[in-house]
Amino acid sequence: MACLRLRTLVSLLLLSILSINRTAKCDDEEENLLRGINSYRASLNLTALTKNENAECLAEQMADQFKNQPCTNTTGSNTVPGTEPVFSKYPNFLAKCHLNLTTTQDGQILPACVPNLVPSLVLTNFTQSQYSKYLNDTKFTGAGISSEDNWIVVVLTANTSGGSFVNDKSAGLVSTFGLIYYCLFLVMSFFLLAS
Ligand SMILES: *[C@@H]1O[C@H](CO)[C@@H](O)[C@H](O)[C@H]1NC(C)=O
Ligand SMILES: *[C@@H]1O[C@H](CO)[C@@H](O)[C@H](O)[C@H]1NC(C)=O
Ligand SMILES: *[C@@H]1O[C@H](CO)[C@@H](O)[C@H](O)[C@H]1NC(C)=O
Ligand SMILES: *[C@@H]1O[C@H](CO)[C@@H](O)[C@H](O)[C@H]1NC(C)=O
Ligand SMILES: *[C@@H]1O[C@H](CO)[C@@H](O)[C@H](O)[C@H]1NC(C)=O
Ligand SMILES: *[C@@H]1O[C@H](CO)[C@@H](O)[C@H](O)[C@H]1NC(C)=O
Repeated sequence: MACLRLRTLVSLLLLSILSINRTAKCDDEEENLLRGINSYRASLNLTALTKNENAECLAEQMADQFKNQPCTNTTGSNTVPGTEPVFSKYPNFLAKCHLNLTTTQDGQILPACVPNLVPSLVLTNFTQSQYSKYLNDTKFTGAGISSEDNWIVVVLTANTSGGSFVNDKSAGLVSTFGLIYYCLFLVMSFFLLAS
């Protein structure tokens, strides 16, 4: 009995270590990029971008759409302006993140495709490409970043009402539930894998 309890305890302990590691690992690329972008902005005497959860939610939806597309010299930051892919599900993404076009239209979505997300290349894909136009802009004050496979998406928020990315309070509750489901999913996949 005690042995069983100990095993459960050890499994739970392992699980929490594993999931902390996992989250930390996939957050790394995003944290790195934000830090890199903010040093770039500091070198231009611009304010640092603050992390925006709602923009991050939208970035996740976008990254999910991009992830199966291969990197070419016409994707990501090399895209010819005006030829960016348009996702018909975009309104659904906004709804999923409890956002509204009226508070997101001044924002900017910047997808980049870099094989294996090599950090130095990821950063220069933003700071030394056509995207620098946005990073140089004082009106952008926040950012949400998400990555999937070779794709990393930055969503910039602005200090205007059309770029605030605010949502209503009930939306916050829903994302907490989302997180709980995600944790449950992690727990279940662990036990499935372990069995
Ligand atoms: C940033 O500010 C410093 C001190 O005010 C100034 O010396 C420097 O030239 C500025 N750099 C840019 C890129 O504006
Ligand atoms: C992109 O790649 C294609 C084929 O690999 C090449 O023909 C074209 O010149 C490249 N374009 C640019 C802008 O590098
Ligand atoms: C969302 O935007 C529409 C107009 O595009 C507006 O009528 C509606 O009130 C907005 N909803 C919220 C919750 O802001
Ligand atoms: C962007 O990433 C690609 C790899 O997908 C790389 O070939 C290219 O040099 C990078 N561009 C910049 C400006 O760093
Ligand atoms: C952004 O600012 C940097 C540094 O001043 C400059 O090299 C770059 O050309 C600017 N980007 C755009 C698109 O103007
Ligand atoms: C937005 O930020 C820019 C640069 O910091 C500032 O000049 C402008 O007044 C701000 N606008 C609002 C509405 O806060």
